[in-house]
Amino acid sequence: MTALSPIPAPSRAIDRLIIRQPDDWHVHLRDGPMLKAVVAYTARQFGRAIIMPNLTPPVTTAGMAAAYRQRIVRAAGKDSGFTPLMTCYLTDHTDPADLRDGRKRGIYTAVKLYPAHATTNSAHGVTDMEKLAPVFATIEEIGLPLLVHGEATSPDVDIYDREAVFIERTLAPMAKRFPGLKIVFEHITTRDAVAFVRTAGPTMAATITPHHLEHNRNAMFAGGIRPHLYCLPVAKREPHRLALREAATSGDAAFFLGTDSAPHKREAKEAACGCAGVFCAPMALESYAKTFDEEGRLDRLEAFASLNGPKFYGLPVNEKRIALVRAATPVAAEVKVGRSALVPFHAGATLNWRFEGLVAG
Ligand code: NCD
Ligand code: ZN
Repeated sequence: MTALSPIPAPSRAIDRLIIRQPDDWHVHLRDGPMLKAVVAYTARQFGRAIIMPNLTPPVTTAGMAAAYRQRIVRAAGKDSGFTPLMTCYLTDHTDPADLRDGRKRGIYTAVKLYPAHATTNSAHGVTDMEKLAPVFATIEEIGLPLLVHGEATSPDVDIYDREAVFIERTLAPMAKRFPGLKIVFEHITTRDAVAFVRTAGPTMAATITPHHLEHNRNAMFAGGIRPHLYCLPVAKREPHRLALREAATSGDAAFFLGTDSAPHKREAKEAACGCAGVFCAPMALESYAKTFDEEGRLDRLEAFASLNGPKFYGLPVNEKRIALVRAATPVAAEVKVGRSALVPFHAGATLNWRFEGLVAG
């Protein structure tokens, strides 16, 4: 009798997905009225979030981070169950003693490196990496992850090459010099970054945004200029987007969720010199679910969204669980903030997934 190969079971479409509650490992919540307008979108989906420190002025001391944390908790509401994880904005004048103190007091979860002038509110960023070597040594020693905005800022570098050049000139040498330093290469946009992270070893990880998984650079110019899709690092060519989708859905623990939700008022986006940033918090999990569904990899969403991040940070995974269901979900055209508005990612569109909220058990 000839052995018959087993007939594969028909793949059943998943219509309801229950996963551990995800965390957002990179978000901009801003401050004041904007914070009040946006925080609930992040707090309703995520258990914890790494809060970017690029306020004006930036969050550069443990005292400022503690005060900002309190403002976020208050804005989210005491009963929201949401935990903001605070970061310190590195400058040329960062005091290693403040990092040690902030770490010891449980205020800092990570340290953020913006090369000076790389992006929104980065004017206070680092101008000379070499001078900061003692600070990197301290960060390595105390074991705080260093979160890196990975773009070369020298004006001779083409904007679409900024990430690849940063790897070569800055990130690879830094990883070599500080082999124990945990680095998160933030909001990666290129296959170069994917390849670099894959070969870099267990101290290197990367976050990937929903918008970079969904759009390549053409989307910013579809039928005219689309300021609400402009963010930094800017979206790249299609092969890069495909590499990001492969990495995110691969199950590789080095890649995890970071929305980079970065709200700017409509008039600041729709302007002669528009701000960079996509406000993706309102439909963050629905957007990621769309990508994982399209790739036939919903089974790996939990690893990317809820497991890989805590593992890299050395934090426990969330005990609560959330449900996502396959259901037509209209996205608001705008979100009010004072007299102005924010235009969210997928504004006015209908998505195929809906965040249902926390589930029992
Ligand atoms: C961010 C912002 O607006 O704060 N903008 C963006 O395009 N992502 C800054 C950043 O993360 O680069
Ligand atoms: Zn960001």
